[in-house]
Amino acid sequence: MQRKIIIDTDPGQDDAVAILLALASPDELDVLGITAVAGNVPLALTQKNARIVCELAGRPDVPVFAGCDRPLKRALVTAEHVHGKTGLDGPVLPDPLMPLQDAHAVEFLIQTLRREPAESVTLCPLGPLTNIATAMQAAPEIVPRIAQIVLMGGAYFEVGNITPAAEFNIHVDPEAAEIVFGSGVPLTVMPLDVTHKALVTQARNAAFRGLGTRVGVAVAEMTDFFERFDKAKYGSDGAPLHDPCVTAFLLRPDLFSGRHVNVEIETEGRFTAGMTVADWWGVTGRAPNAMFMGDLDADGFFALLTERLGRL
Ligand code: RIB
Ligand code: CA
Repeated sequence: MQRKIIIDTDPGQDDAVAILLALASPDELDVLGITAVAGNVPLALTQKNARIVCELAGRPDVPVFAGCDRPLKRALVTAEHVHGKTGLDGPVLPDPLMPLQDAHAVEFLIQTLRREPAESVTLCPLGPLTNIATAMQAAPEIVPRIAQIVLMGGAYFEVGNITPAAEFNIHVDPEAAEIVFGSGVPLTVMPLDVTHKALVTQARNAAFRGLGTRVGVAVAEMTDFFERFDKAKYGSDGAPLHDPCVTAFLLRPDLFSGRHVNVEIETEGRFTAGMTVADWWGVTGRAPNAMFMGDLDADGFFALLTERLGRL
């Protein structure tokens, strides 16, 4: 049974791997489209990178749309220090030949959710939530039509990766995150608490490269580049594959564990803007609104990822 999904993304090497995993799994996932948002790098690059990745997967048929080029209210913060100036540093990949769709990503989100049967489409945001929040504000009637949102963002026990308190995707657009987390749509959240356990060790990187395919080698080169920031900052044993946790959850939810809790977004804090305030111990009495993941079977995750990448 195929699940219809829309991937909203700011590629980003880890976004690229998440997209590849989805496109390598056509029996389970029907990618209706990919919507690009400004985040890791500006929109002109994220929409180009999304098309590069589709062509790397041999899927120039997947419609790619450009969305919002800045957060709802704040100035854009980018992460070239992590992803490189192109956003996809590491492999040398050709410029895309496939066209960018003319429609704005927000229009595509609204029209698709209006057209598809209610509660048949899952949204998979991998970057700042600007496109999703903008669509919800422009067309509130689509909100109950969303089956669920499975997103990468936030942190609780792991604290922030861009500020002491905030994870990047939420930090870039806290107001958008506040709208999405308050929407009432069933949410599954992949915070740093779980993604920092999905590390591309040397052995795992060698398994990607050992596929001997264009995709396998490209992913090995992406993660070789992408690991620098986390190894320098955290002393990690490799690159954390943040965004592929979203796609892997859709394929194998049993690989993940977490807790259904209340999560609020700090939008006012002088030092804490973008913090995901997860009520892990249920002290606030506020209604739970998110399945907040905390752990994964890392070996199972990488076995799934490597096997599926080998299919492209
Ligand atoms: O904090 C990690 C998140 O920020 C990932 O989605 C990564 O791609 C960047 O967008
Ligand atoms: Ca991302």
